[in-house]
Amino acid sequence: MKTIGIMTSGGDAPGMNAAIRAVTRRAMFYGFKVCGINYGYAGLVAGDIFEMGRSDVGDIINRGGTMLYSARYPEFAQVSGQLRGIEQLKKFGVDALVVIGGDGSYHGALRLTEHGYNAIGLPGTIDNDIPYTDFTIGFDTAVNTVVELIDKIRDTAASHERTFVIEVMGRGAGDIALWAGTAGGADEIIVPEHEYNVQQIAQNIQNLRARGKKHTIVVLAEGVMHADEFMQQLKQYGDFDARSTVLGHVQRGGAPTARDRVLASKMGAYAVDLLKEGRGGIAVGMEQNKLTYHKISDLFTEKHQPDLELYDINKTLAK
Ligand code: F6P
Repeated sequence: MKTIGIMTSGGDAPGMNAAIRAVTRRAMFYGFKVCGINYGYAGLVAGDIFEMGRSDVGDIINRGGTMLYSARYPEFAQVSGQLRGIEQLKKFGVDALVVIGGDGSYHGALRLTEHGYNAIGLPGTIDNDIPYTDFTIGFDTAVNTVVELIDKIRDTAASHERTFVIEVMGRGAGDIALWAGTAGGADEIIVPEHEYNVQQIAQNIQNLRARGKKHTIVVLAEGVMHADEFMQQLKQYGDFDARSTVLGHVQRGGAPTARDRVLASKMGAYAVDLLKEGRGGIAVGMEQNKLTYHKISDLFTEKHQPDLELYDINKTLAK
């Protein structure tokens, strides 16, 4: 192997740049060439591929977003697109590919390996919804962003004695809600992975009010329902002033935390080491603080589980 390709795909996540830097610098350390692919699988099919130098990845470890841009490209599900992508990689002399992204990106990487092309996946998504890794690149930054915003909302909630339903991202996963809700001192955390009872939640809010609590914070994972819908349901069972807030894409931006930069640096370097050993068709993870890898295909038979212990702990703390 002489040349490694690298791309980011799907929703961007803080720390993707740190991962690009790690792959590039580690590869160059071993004397490999590195090619960047812009705009994920869309750029791959279009041949938007360029050789990267050390300085291309200078001054990016601290930046959010991705210097290689990203795209959602469902068209890559078609075999013709996959074969065209491999043709482009071969044309540019790229021997193996590192894909940084989430679930959709892993599907693309799996298809490439099924055609005999070597790919390695790195988990880059704020959602933390990838199996065989405790944390994904970008999750920690997103959680910290959400906590900062909950703190701000709490100020105004207290001033006006209001209940706030705060909708956070995560797609079908409740990880951001669980972590940010716990760290933000939420009164209720609602996630797709745990049942809930709206009437009971409304009753809890009334009880807190009766006890003199000035604000109530409900953190709602987007995979459950929209914040406004949830607030309307709550109001059917209780008489309190409430507002809903959707935090949205602000959760995807910003400088990555030190934790995300370190995770990205470790995973990026490890991916290159694995390629150097001749491995491929695998996805890198961090399990119990150890770098691990699994066959990409195994990720689709395993389901990610959030840390529901946080749910139970928060129930006892939010009294
Ligand atoms: O997967 C990351 C994520 O931010 C999810 O949390 C969210 O549901 C989705 O992407 C939003 O996607 P888009 O940016 O394409 O609207």
